[in-house]
Amino acid sequence: MVLTAAMFGNPEFLRDHGVRYAYVAGAMVKGIASAEMVVRMANARLLSFYGSGGQRLETIDAAVAQIRSGTIPGAPAGVNFLHNMLMPTLEDELVDLLFRHDVRVVEAAAFIDVTPALVRYRCKGLRERADGSVEERHRIVGKASRLEVAGRFLAPPPAEIVRSLFESGRITAEEAKLAQRVPLAGDVCAEADSAGHTDKRVAVVLVPEFLKLRDVSRMRHGYLARPRIGLAGGLGTPEAIAAAFVLGAEFVLTGSINQCTVEAGTSDTVKDLLAAAGSQDFDMAPAGDMFEIGARIQVLRKGVLFAARANRLYDLYRQLADIHDLDPATRRTIEETYFHGRTFDEVWQETQSYYARVAPSEIERAEKNPKQKMAMIFRWYYVHSNRLALSGAPEGRVDYQIHCGPAMGAFNRWAHGTPLENWRNRHADTIAEALMTGAAAHLEQSYSRIAGRAERKEEACLSRTD
Ligand SMILES: Cc1cc2nc3c(=O)[nH]c(=O)nc-3n(C[C@H](O)[C@H](O)[C@H](O)COP(=O)(O)O)c2cc1C
Repeated sequence: MVLTAAMFGNPEFLRDHGVRYAYVAGAMVKGIASAEMVVRMANARLLSFYGSGGQRLETIDAAVAQIRSGTIPGAPAGVNFLHNMLMPTLEDELVDLLFRHDVRVVEAAAFIDVTPALVRYRCKGLRERADGSVEERHRIVGKASRLEVAGRFLAPPPAEIVRSLFESGRITAEEAKLAQRVPLAGDVCAEADSAGHTDKRVAVVLVPEFLKLRDVSRMRHGYLARPRIGLAGGLGTPEAIAAAFVLGAEFVLTGSINQCTVEAGTSDTVKDLLAAAGSQDFDMAPAGDMFEIGARIQVLRKGVLFAARANRLYDLYRQLADIHDLDPATRRTIEETYFHGRTFDEVWQETQSYYARVAPSEIERAEKNPKQKMAMIFRWYYVHSNRLALSGAPEGRVDYQIHCGPAMGAFNRWAHGTPLENWRNRHADTIAEALMTGAAAHLEQSYSRIAGRAERKEEACLSRTD
């Protein structure tokens, strides 16, 4: 049998999303997953998600308009829907924007609990077909590394949220009724050891658990259409992609490898650093957006000091009650080196002017709580190190914050000696093509080796009995 890339995954995934392969390029914050990337992928009939995280609504609006004008109607193109713990109203504004542009699919991430905005997106446009099945206008690909979160995606939207959306006139009676017959997310992606925010879960453990949970959930809720389980995290070679499908994944999602492509919205300097990375060149650091609760991100270590410095700031935050408790030498090092010559007062002023615009209550909270104020000053380093990386500022290179995981190093090794060794030849869609067709070839070779061995064994048995 000849295996092809289009045979991988769940055929309904291909049909529902209008794509050639069960392969997705995941969102990357601040438009690193750029409009250009989404357009390229969509025109190759492959699904990807614009990196709306950390972007102003006007920027997202312009990017989605650019995607719309660069693609044909109905092309597979989505937007990231990141949970916003600090400013929940932004989720609602994002949903309005998605409806305005008729965006039919989102990649939902960073959710712990289900929010009304996400439910509104899912419910809007649910219709009953003549055969009794439910037509879904808005699809959610939910990413989770924990079973509890996966369970929430696999359950119908919570009844109390649906009821309150109906009572406030935000969804119709039919949409509210049909909400109980569909999972919140028709596609749930198990996120193993990945770039950025990660629990570093092991893929071979995660996928079977998610598949089992999906089966239980489908039985309990009696869905007609089976929710699909995908895998993300560590996928950077044909062998890894083949393994994901053998494990039972119904689609795969990549991230790290797409950051080192021509259309990724980051600097060339970052791409040069990424192209030189091996699979061991990554480290964990505290996450800037969830600094106080100790969430962690995976970042590039080789050639930069971001992880070391961010870890040092986090250790100080844990040890001290007030930034004024810092010894003078450490304070000087941070101000002169980490903060590139800015004093704590200057950083606090910049932080204040940002929060005065987006969440003034945060300033009041910090003024009453010195530890919180220290966290906000230290968190400035994350904003700064991110800007340095995106702009490629040469003087700040050691502080670049580059979210990435070992898939990047594995990809570099695989691409060595081929035209893809040079990142200027790398494009998200051609990488997808190469990995998926490579995965098909790899699996076919593996099967023929196994089948050949089985045949030889059978022949040997027969000759012994002759
Ligand atoms: C630079 C970068 C930024 C990312 N930003 C986001 C984001 O804003 N939202 C999100 O849902 N996932 C984000 N991710 C995660 C990816 O969408 C994807 O889930 C993950 O990278 C897959 O694992 P891998 O990196 O091992 O391929 C980001 C990944 C990278 C590399």
